[in-house]
Amino acid sequence: MTESNKTATLTVHGKTYELPVHSPTAGPDVVDIRKLYGQAGVFTYDPGFTSTASCDSTITYIDGEKGELLHRGYPIDQLAEKSHFLEVCFLLLYGYLPKADELEQFESTITHHTMLHEQMQYFYRGFRRDAHPMAIMVGVVGAMSAFYHDSTDISDPRQREIASHRLIAKMPTIAAWAYKYHIGQPFVYPRNDLDYASNFLRMCFAVPAEDYEVNPILSRAMDRIFTLHADHEQNASTSTVRLASSSGANPFACVAAGIACLWGPAHGGANQACLEMLEEIGSVDRIPEFIERAKDKNDPFRLMGFGHRVYKNFDPRAKVMKQSADEVLDLLGIENNPKLQVAKALEKQALEDPYFVDKKLFPNVDFYSGIILEAMGFPTSMFTPIFALSRTVGWVSQWKEMIADPQNKIGRPRQLYLGETLRDYVDIENR
Ligand code: SDX
Repeated sequence: MTESNKTATLTVHGKTYELPVHSPTAGPDVVDIRKLYGQAGVFTYDPGFTSTASCDSTITYIDGEKGELLHRGYPIDQLAEKSHFLEVCFLLLYGYLPKADELEQFESTITHHTMLHEQMQYFYRGFRRDAHPMAIMVGVVGAMSAFYHDSTDISDPRQREIASHRLIAKMPTIAAWAYKYHIGQPFVYPRNDLDYASNFLRMCFAVPAEDYEVNPILSRAMDRIFTLHADHEQNASTSTVRLASSSGANPFACVAAGIACLWGPAHGGANQACLEMLEEIGSVDRIPEFIERAKDKNDPFRLMGFGHRVYKNFDPRAKVMKQSADEVLDLLGIENNPKLQVAKALEKQALEDPYFVDKKLFPNVDFYSGIILEAMGFPTSMFTPIFALSRTVGWVSQWKEMIADPQNKIGRPRQLYLGETLRDYVDIENR
């Protein structure tokens, strides 16, 4: 945290307090209220954390007004175009772009951790075949702490690093096996001669009955989708991982908590909800009806894949995803995909509507991703597991940063209590 001699003055109950102000390398200043309760006996109040910084971090910066997303300073559009997912993983974990030998070593390490303990496959058999793959992922990832004891001592930096590598490496296998179990096909094991994205596609779509050749177009698109979802500063699921980790819980249990949070339709579940919305709209002529519903305060319907707590401009990931959707569908020879036509028309009409313009509601990362994933052959139920697979590197990078921070302490928010004040128990005969 960069110090500054700036202060903020707060007067409460007739007394005035000087609060330190810290300046970032980018973004808004922060008012340090850590001593406020001890000095003034008052809490601050910010449900949903709309104006609250929960930590300091050097990993990802988002400028919501400009629609800018930087990972360790590098803009997401350059990383999506010029880098690849495992290099972005190295960047997020270690803070710099690796040299060729470092990258080769890292990719080899990840590749050689992609297999699961053979006993873990029996967890899947405990689920119904129609279980949502996210339910399976929450369970199986949480169970990893029962198998990888030698990387659960979070006080040991080497064990923290091994746990990070294991989570990044094994998530594609866990997600692919959740899909295979869901559709009743045999598990496909990872192969060390395939890159990360190709391995995942093969584990999802190969069957023992025939050879499977990875389509390089799909592999490149898959890798780019992983990169676009890798990290996003202190979003709800990352904050969940940080809060769970603040108690000293092991990384596997904390990432399982992050997966559970990501599942919600307001967060990572929006990619599935968005495609289901596009299916429900069905045709361009029905768009006005749904836009009116999204604007109606009495209707709980919202445009899924639209709006964002931080972005008040285009989500830069959505721009790349939209371009990728055009490319992938074109290369796959999928012309006039009805959902893509509806999505583009919906985006155009919404962005011309004062309701969305005034509230600065733009397409977010989830608006176009589902169209690509569906074109690649995934069912909607696999969209959020793919988001979770990608975001695992963000969760573990933020977790590593927090655990290594000497200021790290258990997260324990307070409240504005509006309940009953002290009163005596009443025996049942007197009620
Ligand atoms: C992700 O945090 C992250 O970084 C998340 C993420 C990541 O990478 O980790 O970027 C991934 O979660 C993307 C968001 C995916 N969710 C959706 O697409 C679901 C639809 N979007 C909304 O539910 C909403 O926009 C949120 C949850 C994303 C943001 O909600 P906020 O910041 O709490 O905003 P809000 O609910 O206070 O909305 C502000 C206003 C409200 O109207 P008023 O009460 O002021 O009159 O905008 C309206 C909302 O009703 N609004 C919408 C809308 N989103 C907000 N109206 C219609 N459709 C929408 N999608």
